[in-house]
Amino acid sequence: MKLKIAPSILSSDFLHLEKEIRAVEQAGADMLHLDIMDGHFVPNLTFGPGIVKKVRSITHLPIDAHLMITNPADFIDKFIDAGVNYLSFHIETDTNYVSLFRKIRKLGVKAGIAINPETSIDALPGVIDEIDYVLIMSVHPGFGGQAFIEESVKKIIETKVIIGSRQIEIEIDGGINYQTAKLVKEASVNILVAGNFIFKSDDYAKTIAGLRNV
Ligand code: DX5
Ligand code: ZN
Repeated sequence: MKLKIAPSILSSDFLHLEKEIRAVEQAGADMLHLDIMDGHFVPNLTFGPGIVKKVRSITHLPIDAHLMITNPADFIDKFIDAGVNYLSFHIETDTNYVSLFRKIRKLGVKAGIAINPETSIDALPGVIDEIDYVLIMSVHPGFGGQAFIEESVKKIIETKVIIGSRQIEIEIDGGINYQTAKLVKEASVNILVAGNFIFKSDDYAKTIAGLRNV
């Protein structure tokens, strides 16, 4: 599987969101990572389906929505209607995972499970045949610009073993820079999310190419 680079717009300049999205698209991004936070599952708030729909209207890039919300079941339809292509919610939520994954996939969207740094992957084998990707959090969810948690590399390797020969992608999210990108690439990650490292850089194209080629 080809490595995909997914800039997280959480670190972009919200006042110039359209310009920022067009800039990363032009700079070679493979998809856009959108962090949806509810101020309850995580101690921060971002945006909802209305903004996602507007983002959809200005880009051809696949939209990867990462739901950090307590009640994903209440919002799945709204985000799919807004035009997302990848949709993940957290394994730490009290949710009927399987029925949600089935619903997401039935609507033609890739379904993912997101896992916090302190959560084990013991529940993964039970849902592995229902999903298209696993999102491994390499920082505590809620904020951009945090340091990469090194144990995440071990988690990627263990996840890879559970996936076996299935066509399931592994996405890593949090604290990605050239050094940490190298570590996770060696552990055979498929999707690299990067917020601060791309949006706080002077040259998005150079940074995206650099991440791809570490
Ligand atoms: C954190 C979010 C991440 C965040 C990554 O809760 O899920 O997607 O934007 O930002 P960086 O790359 O700056 O750690
Ligand atoms: Zn995220």
